[in-house]
Amino acid sequence: MSQVPNPVYGPNRFKLGLFNANCDGGFAISKAPERWPAKWDDIVKISQWADDAGVDFILPVAKWRGLGGEADNLGRSYETMTHSAAIGALTKRIGMFVTVHTPVLTPAYVAKCLATIDAATHGRVGLNIVCGWNQNEFDVHGIEINGEHRYDHGLEWFKVLKKMLEGGAPFNWDGEYFKLKNVVTDPLPLQSKIPVMSAGFSFKGRDFAGQAADLLFTSVSTIERAPSIVQSVHDYARKYDREIQVFTSSHIVCRPTRQEAEDFYYYFAETMADRTCLDQMTAMKKKTAGSDTPESERADFNPEVHTRYRGKIHPGSFPGSYTFVGTPDDIVEEMVLLEKAGLRGAAITFLDYIADMPFFLDEVLPRMERAGLREKVKAEV
Ligand SMILES: Cc1cc2nc3c(=O)[nH]c(=O)nc-3n(C[C@H](O)[C@H](O)[C@H](O)COP(=O)(O)O)c2cc1C
Repeated sequence: MSQVPNPVYGPNRFKLGLFNANCDGGFAISKAPERWPAKWDDIVKISQWADDAGVDFILPVAKWRGLGGEADNLGRSYETMTHSAAIGALTKRIGMFVTVHTPVLTPAYVAKCLATIDAATHGRVGLNIVCGWNQNEFDVHGIEINGEHRYDHGLEWFKVLKKMLEGGAPFNWDGEYFKLKNVVTDPLPLQSKIPVMSAGFSFKGRDFAGQAADLLFTSVSTIERAPSIVQSVHDYARKYDREIQVFTSSHIVCRPTRQEAEDFYYYFAETMADRTCLDQMTAMKKKTAGSDTPESERADFNPEVHTRYRGKIHPGSFPGSYTFVGTPDDIVEEMVLLEKAGLRGAAITFLDYIADMPFFLDEVLPRMERAGLREKVKAEV
């Protein structure tokens, strides 16, 4: 099989990525027993559904510990590079991101992994760079995250990787964070330009993305806030003569009627919200966030002050994620508004992917096509 086009660079105007399915919990801060258990065979099944339906990419989350609280969501997780190599071999066309914590893995190691997964998937790998999030996850590796410098370290890490992926003769690197000798990698990935994404909200995160990423996933929790956040990210990229696409992470609660969707959302995100987890998470994030971004700006620190398009945000939505709740028509209406506000897509999560995805794929995707957000999927590749 020859190289296939990576859908991350494809024509869909509002792209979709299956997000966080390698971890348990359904990306909710919820104790609801229906939450996703992340069993391997189910992960394979939903990945193949997404592939067949023309979803653009899969984005696994890199986690080393759970979020704590009563449910310890994300406590069970499959490692992202081995995940994407394996799922990539079982799918045909979907883009396969890997998520890398720059404080944990060296650029040389990651260059090899990217080349391996790109070969195995015939050119579908993408790289999600995370420069540091929850300190207690890095304690597992004995690594201290410096909130003020994590993105500086990550940028130098990225520059080394980029130079390696250009190929050529071995080089030495004498930087602030890396002192390296005879750096070289072979083989190179099949793709001449691997899609690079980063996921951050802080101003330093935007500045990092402006220099390194093709896509920035950030916290756009309301439509009203979207244009100014998108503009700010574009401004950072223009400083470096670059273009960047902005995405949001999201929850999908889609039901045949609005009332059913609202009731289910209330159940898992209000009645069953894991409030202990939410408090612990916010406190921990404040330790590594750095001082550049005012707390009042951060949707992830103030989840409940933001409203949904129709209704209230409940504490069991992941802080900062956009929460779609409603019928297929409702959801597409909001996606159209987000696209108009400048967003190029969403990473989507479901409380229970097996239970919730078939209705979403059958009902929402065709409506997105009719709304001009997505192209019709070709049956064969
Ligand atoms: C779509 C998305 C994916 C993310 N994936 C990961 C991940 O896999 N591992 C991780 O530790 N953090 C992940 N994060 C957290 C971010 O890297 C980042 O720390 C967070 O959004 C806060 O932004 P800031 O670091 O700029 O303050 C993700 C965030 C988003 C929005």
